[in-house]
Amino acid sequence: MRIVEQRELTHDQPADQPADAAPSPWLTGAWEPIHDEIVAGDLAVTGVIPPQIRGDYVRNGPNPAFDPPGRYHIFDGDGMLHGVRFEDGQASYRNRWVDSAGLRAERRAGGPLYGGLNEFRMPPQEVLAEAGPLKNTANTHVWRHAGRAFALLEATRPTEFDLDLNTIGEYDFDGLLQGPMTAHPKTDPETGELIFFGYSPFPPFIRYHVADPAGRLVTSVPIDLPRAVMMHDFAVSRDHVVFFDLPAVFDVKALVEGKPGIRWEPEHGARIGVLRRSEPTSPVRWFEMEPFWMFHVLNAHDDGDAVVVEACRTTKLNAEFGEEDFEPAPPPTLHRWRLDLASGAVSEEQVDDRPTDFPRVNDDLAGLNTRYGYAGHTRRWDDGSVEFSGITKYDLHGGTSSAHDFGPREVGGEAAFVPDPERSDDDAGWLMTYVTDLAAGSSDLVIVDAQTMEQTARVHLPRRVPSGFHGNWFAHGAQGNNRTVGI
Ligand SMILES: [Fe+2]
Repeated sequence: MRIVEQRELTHDQPADQPADAAPSPWLTGAWEPIHDEIVAGDLAVTGVIPPQIRGDYVRNGPNPAFDPPGRYHIFDGDGMLHGVRFEDGQASYRNRWVDSAGLRAERRAGGPLYGGLNEFRMPPQEVLAEAGPLKNTANTHVWRHAGRAFALLEATRPTEFDLDLNTIGEYDFDGLLQGPMTAHPKTDPETGELIFFGYSPFPPFIRYHVADPAGRLVTSVPIDLPRAVMMHDFAVSRDHVVFFDLPAVFDVKALVEGKPGIRWEPEHGARIGVLRRSEPTSPVRWFEMEPFWMFHVLNAHDDGDAVVVEACRTTKLNAEFGEEDFEPAPPPTLHRWRLDLASGAVSEEQVDDRPTDFPRVNDDLAGLNTRYGYAGHTRRWDDGSVEFSGITKYDLHGGTSSAHDFGPREVGGEAAFVPDPERSDDDAGWLMTYVTDLAAGSSDLVIVDAQTMEQTARVHLPRRVPSGFHGNWFAHGAQGNNRTVGI
């Protein structure tokens, strides 16, 4: 291994940091931020990297550049991209902060100017004009479409970056994108369309968007909701879009006043809405449900008159937003809904009772009746502490599962599916995720064969990679996330 480049980005403790504040669990252990940007080549590998693996694995996550001035929320930190490039049989690593306008202003000021979801602070007037009231940390996901790679935060516009992980800047689809873009867009593998939505605290509370394979925003439709809600993910099948109107009410006035900006209000119930993709201006068909919460969808597909959706579901919002009376929710488990558009009936079943989240499929089959799905399973999930200890593979047709466990001291996260360009089976490919040995303070990129769920190889990284959120595989020669031809 050879370190090619290293930039130490030092920072000072802000003067108003309470000296006796208990450290946030999201700033310690596996989540402890790092303070430099490095490039390293010729990484040591255990096992053999299959020659079909040619591309970049890039994962996003929160990594505050400055110590937070108030109570930190896990969603607050500046986005940091960690990438491993596979090329010519070798692996290299680099990490870069998303260089947002807000972070640039903070670097100039030498300290934090923004608060967060637990303790909002309006930045100074001159920074407000330049970077807005909410810092676009772009810390949640990465997605590529029509040759542009985006770092995504659901409250703001996408931020474009190049594959050396340098920030290009915010992107607005040639001025056509109104409002934010979800961090969980979908690409239709058959049409090459990018399908997404944005939610807002102001009416219309949702806008639904489609960009064509060339990246032109061709559809933007407002969707009526009774109130502003946090909508983290959605589902797309070949013919339908599925929205989740769940009672996590978004209240920007309360947020600015320093109160919880997102409140769980189960009295509103929950609704799942289905929109025909071919008729985006037609009314959304809503299915009324008992209150529930889910952050992440596994996949959706059409089945006759029904839409089938699988997601990691729990009974109530399982994230805290500064409420004094917050009660933890049970860990999410994989559920399946069947939404019958002919009869109006909805049925629900629990697919598995083991706690899982970060569900993914082979995105070359997204929206279709995939046989296999993958999710992170945990060795513990309790009050404010989650340790992802492996990957569960679900056979959604057969009703069985198998699993890969990391080492006993290792913590992982979401695994992205890397399709084998030379094979077309549903599970022909690999799963990739960063794992950190908590005791040793070191990290590897683990590559798991998705058919056998056995480890194929490990790339030993030159540094600890903090836990994060979502990542993707950008195949070399492709214009989208995965595909080596076409989109
Ligand atoms: Fe997410």
